[in-house]
Amino acid sequence: MSDSTLTERTPHHRPGAADRVVIDQVSKRFEITVSRKRQSVQALDRVSLSIADGEIIALTGLSGCGKTTLLRIIMGLEKATSGQVTVGGNVVTGCGYDRGLVFQHSELFPWRTALQNVEFGLEVKGVPREERRRVAREKLELVGLAGAMDRRPNQLSGGMKQRVGLARALSIEPQVLLMDEPFGALDAQTREGLQAEVLRIHRETGKTIVFVTHDLDEAVLLAHRVVLMAPHPGRVKQVFDIPIEGPREDVSAVRGSETFAELRYQIWRSLMERDEQP
Ligand SMILES: Nc1ncnc2c1ncn2[C@@H]1O[C@H](COP(=O)(O)OP(=O)(O)OP(=O)(O)O)[C@@H](O)[C@H]1O
Ligand SMILES: [Mg+2]
Repeated sequence: MSDSTLTERTPHHRPGAADRVVIDQVSKRFEITVSRKRQSVQALDRVSLSIADGEIIALTGLSGCGKTTLLRIIMGLEKATSGQVTVGGNVVTGCGYDRGLVFQHSELFPWRTALQNVEFGLEVKGVPREERRRVAREKLELVGLAGAMDRRPNQLSGGMKQRVGLARALSIEPQVLLMDEPFGALDAQTREGLQAEVLRIHRETGKTIVFVTHDLDEAVLLAHRVVLMAPHPGRVKQVFDIPIEGPREDVSAVRGSETFAELRYQIWRSLMERDEQP
């Protein structure tokens, strides 16, 4: 592999596709009080990244490098100290239906069935009942839960719950899907199944996806580009193009390829490199 795949700022994977998400010089400082002393944590330092429409970005890096903070800023749950994020050309000032979030433990209402949980977001959006039901069914089918719509969360496995969380996020038809270690708590086999599902859903819906993961295999498998972040302060360390052509849903075959192993190794090496403070 040539070094050209490892440039700091790589061109879009999808030439011609418009930018869907533009992260422009985003910094975030948290002021906290520890043992009555005020401290300042620079969670993000001037992070910039343009994400093309339909692109899958994997955000990875050591614990505390600001992945969740960045995702929450894109979602509009957290305000940047400086810099801004635009989604579809609009500056993010709060949550919106153009973005959907899935996290590690999808909080589902225990008293609601899978179907009713997926309907929730649509209720908030004010979608009429019939339409709500139809869309929720369609999304549960899309994530492979057609047979479990009437089960309550305590009757679902961890993997199934994550599927419900994914269906719920998809139900509002967001243009951007933000996923924070969605499969982090699952066993390897369930995880692999869900990775293939994400790839299939991406093929069918063309959503832009920002996927946070600690798992480099998962990052390389899913993403068009892997963005490696570094902590203290949280920043983009390196961006890797992942030029794996063709469908990746045959997860085992992709994982077994030489290109895969090589890319994974390069990212791992960069992750382990001692960081110079910028
Ligand atoms: N609400 C908060 N108040 C104070 N500090 C925070 C807050 N949220 C995050 N931080 C700090 O900001 C930095 C980045 O945290 P963040 O959770 O974004 O990291 P992360 O990359 O998601 O880590 P992990 O891989 O462990 O999930 C950390 O130093 C963290 O302690
Ligand atoms: Mg996190």
